Amino acid sequence: MRLLPIFTPLLFSFRAAFAAIEANPTPPGLQFLYNANITVGLSVDVGKIPAGNVTVIPVIGGALIGPKVSGKILAIGADWGLATSNGYFLSDIRAQIRTMDNANIYVQMAGLSQGTDGLVYIRTTFQTGDKNYWWLNYAFAFGTMKPSGTGFVVDMWHLT
Ligand SMILES: *[C@@H]1O[C@H](CO)[C@@H](O)[C@H](O)[C@H]1NC(C)=O
Ligand SMILES: *[C@@H]1O[C@H](CO)[C@@H](O)[C@H](O)[C@H]1NC(C)=O
Repeated sequence: MRLLPIFTPLLFSFRAAFAAIEANPTPPGLQFLYNANITVGLSVDVGKIPAGNVTVIPVIGGALIGPKVSGKILAIGADWGLATSNGYFLSDIRAQIRTMDNANIYVQMAGLSQGTDGLVYIRTTFQTGDKNYWWLNYAFAFGTMKPSGTGFVVDMWHLT
């Protein structure tokens, strides 16, 4: 092991750095954002593209309820879903929320599913100009999405 003398100091500095990190990891807080039911329409088969099969699942409505965000999901948007040959399903969802107090919020959800149970883990971003929901522009949100009778059930959280 002639390389060892060169790497040993490096190894020690990494160890020291990791020890410092592990000593005091403060996890971010987690807050429930909403439960949503998304109703979907008839899907459109785009077909096989180089990356897999693309299916467009239209969003035709829905509702969401949460401690700070509640309202309806408009009939605008869809999931441009990609099924890859190695068994992943990648969701690419764009949708519109209209809150009970009439704020319009544009939602983008990127999902990844690798099982056969239909559970999709999603990362979510929001865009709105409404001052009451301005904080959503900066929210780190993620959740789960599961198929239900007429569409999907979504549970969303965000880091605090
Ligand atoms: C979604 O549907 C479930 C089951 O019907 C219901 O319990 C829940 O309250 C609904 N959520 C919303 C936001 O409407
Ligand atoms: C894509 O669609 C074709 C035709 O329906 C099917 O044979 C194939 O298994 C599908 N591939 C994936 C990755 O879903």
